[in-house]
Amino acid sequence: MTQDELKALVGQAALQYVVGGEIVGVGTGSTVNKFIDALATIKSSIPGAVSSSVASTERLKALGIPVFDANDVGEIAVYIDGADEIDARGNMIKGGGAALTREKIVAAQSRRFICIADESKLVEALGRFPVPVEVIPMASQRVIRQFQAMGGQARVRLKDGQPLVTDNGQHILDVSGLSITEPLQFESDVNQWPGVVTVGVFAHQKAAVCLLGTTSGVKTLAF
Ligand code: A5P
Repeated sequence: MTQDELKALVGQAALQYVVGGEIVGVGTGSTVNKFIDALATIKSSIPGAVSSSVASTERLKALGIPVFDANDVGEIAVYIDGADEIDARGNMIKGGGAALTREKIVAAQSRRFICIADESKLVEALGRFPVPVEVIPMASQRVIRQFQAMGGQARVRLKDGQPLVTDNGQHILDVSGLSITEPLQFESDVNQWPGVVTVGVFAHQKAAVCLLGTTSGVKTLAF
């Protein structure tokens, strides 16, 4: 099975977690795109979605799924999103698609985080995938130096040779060389640094369930 087929498999499997009559939280990325496509087939059973990015909003709307502003809804029953890495306790690295801040907001507003991922995303310890960090641009170099002081190498993410600008008008640093043995502590610490908007470690908003696409089918991990 190709990686694309594994993504489609878990995107489809996530439908079982969508609560009829309730708004669903929708993440961002190529795996979530498969989920959005599957969601369109049951769209009449839900009022709509809260989305974590401009890209997902556009895809949802194009398929006729209403998108609500997070401020106009209360607690969301489930949030469905992918991950760049997930460990055996449900902690994740996210933000490969630069949507980490809105993803964390919608995840925090939701009762349960259902992670959908192909098996390549399951790791023993977080940190092989460079950790995305959304920063206020004027703080970039200072935050890069702070990561250097803890043994990491951070660089500003580029798009077409220029710093990538997020949906929130900020920049992304990608930080490699870190071994994140205490994800909760790491997330709390980095979030305190001046100029950091969001760190792409999701330990406070970790997954409750991971639907992992494997060549022998969907494996369900509950945390
Ligand atoms: C988006 O910012 C990310 O957090 C995605 O959830 C993550 O990068 C997974 O994306 P894919 O499903 O495309 O691998």
